[in-house]
Parts: sequence; structure tokens; C-alpha cells
Amino acid sequence: MTIQWFPGHMAKARREVTEKLKLVDVIFELVDARIPYSSSNPMLEEIIHQKRRVIILNKADTADEKVTQEWIDHFAERGLPAVAVNAQEGKGMHKIERAAEALMAEKFERQRSRGMKPRAIRAMILGIPNVGKSTLINRLVKKNIAKTGNKPGVTKAQQWIKVGKTLELLDTPGILWPKFEDQRVGYKLALTGAIKDDLLHMEEVAGFGLRFLEAHYPEKLHHWLQIEVLPEETTEVLAMIAERRGIFDRYRDPDYSRAAELLVREMRQEKMGRVSFDFPSDLLVEDDADGGENSSH
Ligand code: G4P
Repeated sequence: MTIQWFPGHMAKARREVTEKLKLVDVIFELVDARIPYSSSNPMLEEIIHQKRRVIILNKADTADEKVTQEWIDHFAERGLPAVAVNAQEGKGMHKIERAAEALMAEKFERQRSRGMKPRAIRAMILGIPNVGKSTLINRLVKKNIAKTGNKPGVTKAQQWIKVGKTLELLDTPGILWPKFEDQRVGYKLALTGAIKDDLLHMEEVAGFGLRFLEAHYPEKLHHWLQIEVLPEETTEVLAMIAERRGIFDRYRDPDYSRAAELLVREMRQEKMGRVSFDFPSDLLVEDDADGGENSSH
């Protein structure tokens, strides 16, 4: 699903999320583990205010494990619990309920000490398109078919999915928009498949991907493309790929644009292996240097 985000859509999305926020104790912010910064909503903290939050790094099966752990540590240092999961295969699901319980533990303890029995924790999933919100909900539904019924008196029925013993999850996620202002973020969203259409110039996306991999994962890149040295110009790489794979235009010249599409498609399929495109260390450098205005990788 591709959503074109216009100001009207953004205001509506924000309104819908704000309505749902009233119903829940905890937010599960879903991001792509390969790009936890680039796949987050720029206004999330402002939108959810002080609501308790767990960051779920989904698609952890596709990310660089070491970097994913660095992200978990990075968030922990800021008092934000984060868990890595693979919703597609249902791996790490138990960590979600645990993290929510830990967040609510103090409140529930207070209630118990006053003789009250804590009710189930209510949570909702929030995230930009394509981070795996529906996959995660389906995964949780499959395991827990028992849904609580519609609550009488509520005009717009909300369905809650029981997860484990202590958690109830809203069955529809909140959808927010990605960051737009930074072109590199757009490239990373494209390289991970979060943006699938032609909003971006594929030759530029391929060029960015190649340079990024050369800088951070040179061995994986060289092994994938079977090269010793990466040619300096993106067009040289595209010409090489076109030659090798027989991608020519009707004049028998290399078709750069189709070669770029092929490269981007293969990067999305992780043909170069598991890599991460956002690093917490870059974020810190950006914070120090320019407040994140001119981030660079
Ligand atoms: P959304 O609701 O947040 O928009 O995302 P959705 O669940 O539709 O998931 C988007 C794509 O991500 C789906 O691929 C889904 O299978 C994939 N996905 C979700 N969770 C995981 C995960 O943990 N690991 C991996 N590797 N993939 C995951 P799709 O529908 O096949 O789309 P496509 O991107 O493959 O074309």
C-alpha cells in the first residue's frame, strides 16, 4: 500500500491516532529494524505526549544483528524499552508482552497495594506504512483467536485482541507518515521497500545504496556484485550490471534505468545479505554537529 501524504491526510491520521490514544495504556511503535530512525514518524513524541511506549524493531531477520543490538542499547539509554522481532515468522513475540508489563509494573503495584485488581494492559500499534503492522497483528490474532466482543455503548466499535495473559491489543493500527524532508531518508525507505513506487529516481536510489554499502559493508557489496573494486561512477556500475544481465535498450545500449531498478530490487531482497541502513552513532554525530538538520552517511 502506498499512501501519498498530503497535509489533509496527515491531519486526519493524527486525529485518528489521537482518538485511539485515549483507549490505551501503551503504544507499540513499530519501525523497520534496518532503519529505526528513517522509518519513524517525525512528530511521534509530540503526538503521543507522555504515553508509555515500546519500540518494536520489526523485520529484525533482515537487519544487521550487531547494529540492532546497538539500537536497543541506544533506546534503553534514553529510557525507552525496545525489542527486536520478526513478525513474519512470529519470532520474539513474547518480548512484546513482557515489555508492556514492565512499563506498567509500577502502576499495577500501586493499584494492588490499594487492594485493586489491575485490568488487562491495553495497547495499540503505531507506525508508518509497510513496517509490518498488519503482519504483526495477524500473527497475534492467529495465535489468539479469542477476541473480546464489542463494548456496548461505544459508538465506533473497537475490537481488542487478547495477547497472552495480560495484554489486549487494538485490532487496527495507527498509521502515520514518514519523514519527508531528508532525501537520504527517502532513499533508505526506498531501499528497504517502504516506498515502492516511482516517487524517487531509481538511478539515484541505486547510487545511494551502492555508496552506502561500499562505506559500511564493502565485503558484502563486493561479494554480491562479484567485484574487486566498486567503479567510482554509478553509471559505470549500471553499465556493468546491464552488460552482465543483458539489459539493453532498443539501440543495444545499456539500459541504465532498468539496471538501477534491478539493483534496487535485489537490495530490497537482501541479495547482499543482512545490513542496516541507520546507525545510532550517526544520529549522535548529527545531534552534536547540527541538530540533525544536515545528517549525512
Ligand atoms: P503495514 O501493515 O505496516 O503497512 O505492513 P505489512 O504488514 O503489510 O508488511 C509490509 C511487508 O513487510 C509485507 O511484505 C510483509 O510480509 C513484510 N514483513 C512484515 N513483517 C516482516 C518481518 O518480520 N520480516 C520480514 N522479512 N518481512 C516482514 P509483502 O506484503 O510481501 O510486501 P513486499 O514488500 O514483499 O512486496
